[in-house]
Amino acid sequence: MPEATAAEAGYLKMAAEFSFRARMDKSSAQGPVFQSASGSVVRDVNGKEYLDFNSGQMCSALGHNHPKIAAAIKEAADTMIHAHSSHYNVKEVELAAAIGSVVPRPLQKSLFGESGADANEMAMMIARKYTGGHEIASPHISFHGLSDATRAVTFSGWHANHGPLPTGTYALVAPYCYRCPLAQTYPACEFACLKTSFELLDAQSTGRPAAVITEPLFSAGGVIEPPIGWLKRLQEMCHARGMLLICDEEQTGLGKLGAMFGFERDGIVPDIVTIAKHFGGGVGVSAVVTSAKIEEKVVEAGYAATHSHSNDPLICAAGTASIGIVVDENVPARAAHIGARVIERLKDLQQRFEGIGDIRGRGMLVGIEIVTDRQSKKPDGATGNGVARACFDKGLIFSVRRNGSVLRFVPPQTTTDAQIDDAMEILETSFADVLKAKRVN
Ligand SMILES: Cc1ncc(COP(=O)(O)O)c(C=O)c1O
Repeated sequence: MPEATAAEAGYLKMAAEFSFRARMDKSSAQGPVFQSASGSVVRDVNGKEYLDFNSGQMCSALGHNHPKIAAAIKEAADTMIHAHSSHYNVKEVELAAAIGSVVPRPLQKSLFGESGADANEMAMMIARKYTGGHEIASPHISFHGLSDATRAVTFSGWHANHGPLPTGTYALVAPYCYRCPLAQTYPACEFACLKTSFELLDAQSTGRPAAVITEPLFSAGGVIEPPIGWLKRLQEMCHARGMLLICDEEQTGLGKLGAMFGFERDGIVPDIVTIAKHFGGGVGVSAVVTSAKIEEKVVEAGYAATHSHSNDPLICAAGTASIGIVVDENVPARAAHIGARVIERLKDLQQRFEGIGDIRGRGMLVGIEIVTDRQSKKPDGATGNGVARACFDKGLIFSVRRNGSVLRFVPPQTTTDAQIDDAMEILETSFADVLKAKRVN
């Protein structure tokens, strides 16, 4: 590890003294300390540049410091930063209309928040108000946030030592086909995961089910792609019980997977959709979107949801600008191109490295699963973590999931072909170095 420079050492000393260390990925108090960013590159206080294949916290997938986002924020800052949340303001209404122009009907009405978790909380409460039920289920590899209400339906981790959590939440068997928990094979399985899950749900329910909340492609759970047809069958099974289907598109929506929304691949329209992350182009804004029919009923039922900043002109302006970028720069097409190139390069690497057991994902959300060998499929977190560390040191950032056995790549839409090639070369060298070191030891 390189010696910390004086500037970096100063920031780390301050962090050690004053920063609360509840980070999701338990990195110790060490560098780098980041200072600036543009497009697909971030820089630390030492001036070292990194290719950011994590898009920050996946929120800069439109490119760091996109000039249209910066301009929108500046304009709002000069005009009106904050507004009364019981009255409409121009930027808020414009944002609702912008979302209305990219969602398929009957989705139409938007309510804003400031984080992914609060949009999912609102979505769950809307489903409860609409159905009169309260029970919510989610696949067992899901991630919907770390507030209490969303942590209760985040089953990919972060439950241990955080109880008690709200009751009335259930896990469904997720469609993790590479490691099917039911030892089935798609399509012969005929979605045994859903059949089993709903048998269990029906048995456990107090008769007051409200919704299933799911990602259309599970990101934090390990970039796990449900087979085509799963989402449609899930919606049918929800509706058969009077439950709503909430699609958490916070990671996957607004072009990221090569279509405006992840659910489009399955030919469905969910009852409620949430958007966040790269919505806002890096600024904290989120939305829950539903039909006029659902909105009408829950408002009549007295539903109220507001946060101090959730219709602030500043964040709403960033939201509208981000939708403008998605449409004007054809982000779905950019994502499809980036994904195809990354996957092609990963397939080349797979020929060379037995440990790359599976390659999966769509668009700007791609993952590889690292195994000791393809026969046993034993997860190899030690190698995955080693490769990620080596890449990081060489200036390539991405995240690891499933204790290191999944490497997840989220390059921003600004990423050029040359940057993809650079990233894949760093990955290749790092793999070779880690495997060599393993052989020597
Ligand atoms: C699919 C999904 N939903 C919800 C969230 C929570 O968003 P936030 O951290 O903004 O609360 C995340 C964050 O990673 C996410 O990936």
